[in-house]
Amino acid sequence: MKRKVNQLKRRDFLKRTGKTALATVIMGSIGPRILGAISYDKENISIPKVLLNNGVQIPILGFGTNTLKGNIGVRSVSDAISVGYRLIDTAHIYGNEEAVGEGIKLSGIERNKLFITSKLWVADAGYEGTKKAFETSLNKLGVDYLDLYLIHRPRGDVKGSWKAMEELYEAGKIRAIGVSNFLPVQLDNLNSYAKIEPAINQIETHVFFQEEKSYPYLKKSNTQIEAWSPFAAGRNNIFNNPTLAAIGEKYNKTIAQVCLRWHYQRGVVAIPRSSQKAHMIENLNIFDFELSNEDMNTITTLDLNITQFPEWE
Ligand SMILES: NC(=O)c1ccc[n+]([C@@H]2O[C@H](COP(=O)([O-])OP(=O)(O)OC[C@H]3O[C@@H](n4cnc5c(N)ncnc54)[C@H](OP(=O)(O)O)[C@@H]3O)[C@@H](O)[C@H]2O)c1
Repeated sequence: MKRKVNQLKRRDFLKRTGKTALATVIMGSIGPRILGAISYDKENISIPKVLLNNGVQIPILGFGTNTLKGNIGVRSVSDAISVGYRLIDTAHIYGNEEAVGEGIKLSGIERNKLFITSKLWVADAGYEGTKKAFETSLNKLGVDYLDLYLIHRPRGDVKGSWKAMEELYEAGKIRAIGVSNFLPVQLDNLNSYAKIEPAINQIETHVFFQEEKSYPYLKKSNTQIEAWSPFAAGRNNIFNNPTLAAIGEKYNKTIAQVCLRWHYQRGVVAIPRSSQKAHMIENLNIFDFELSNEDMNTITTLDLNITQFPEWE
């Protein structure tokens, strides 16, 4: 294994962020294993966490912010933190890092209680561009380190970007580095020169696009899967899907909760977005039931094995 983690820095980070895993999902030889009992208590947040390949823990359920800009962005992020989210996902290209930063400030939460992700956009790819873009993201967010920084898309000078990210990681400016939208072959290519293996690959995955090619590959690797658009952003009429509705009825759960529970049982980190506080709370409320194997298998049949976002291909 090529990962070269600076143990001292890692210990610093763990101190800085408080080592408070209550329920932890650990990467095992056949993918993540869930350890510990799961409880939900807003005052003592216990969203299960996943142990990344460098020992850093990420909540298995977080909050997505794409399209949440301006005042809606500020209010949504602050609301999300107030109801219990600790992982906040943004990106330079969303044009909302300032709003996300303001929402964080408004929430009054301590920085070290949060797990903040941002992403490097394609136009900033390359060694120098990455260093500059990273500082810009920090300034916009109003923070002095990121928990996770991802290469948003496998375009441009990925090698230069990764070198810059490795240096930022080693300098203690980022707690974990990773990629997004990388196919297995693109990950293999990056790993052929990387000193540090990506901790995360954030990819499109949901019930209509189950990534049956990338999923087994990533489950076997040291790179954790994170699902973007865990609800397919509402496409293909997901919130009226009769199969998901029938499964939800059995457990007295909504379609959104069935979807998120499905991600959770697959050991996938999910970052649903919502501008509505009621939905934010509903989406957190998935740790008190378990989908049966039969229901998990039924959901497998919903796979269309095709992106729901062809415009981004
Ligand atoms: N790396 C990448 O390339 C990439 C690409 C896309 C997205 N992302 C990340 O992934 C995050 C999530 O993906 P997404 O924003 O595309 O979409 P999503 O989370 O799949 O779906 C968001 C939609 O679901 C609705 N919704 C949320 N909770 C609901 C509930 N309980 N009941 C009914 N409707 C509900 C929201 O409406 P309301 O606001 O009305 O609740 C919104 O319209 C993004 O925000 C972003 O952070 C990353």
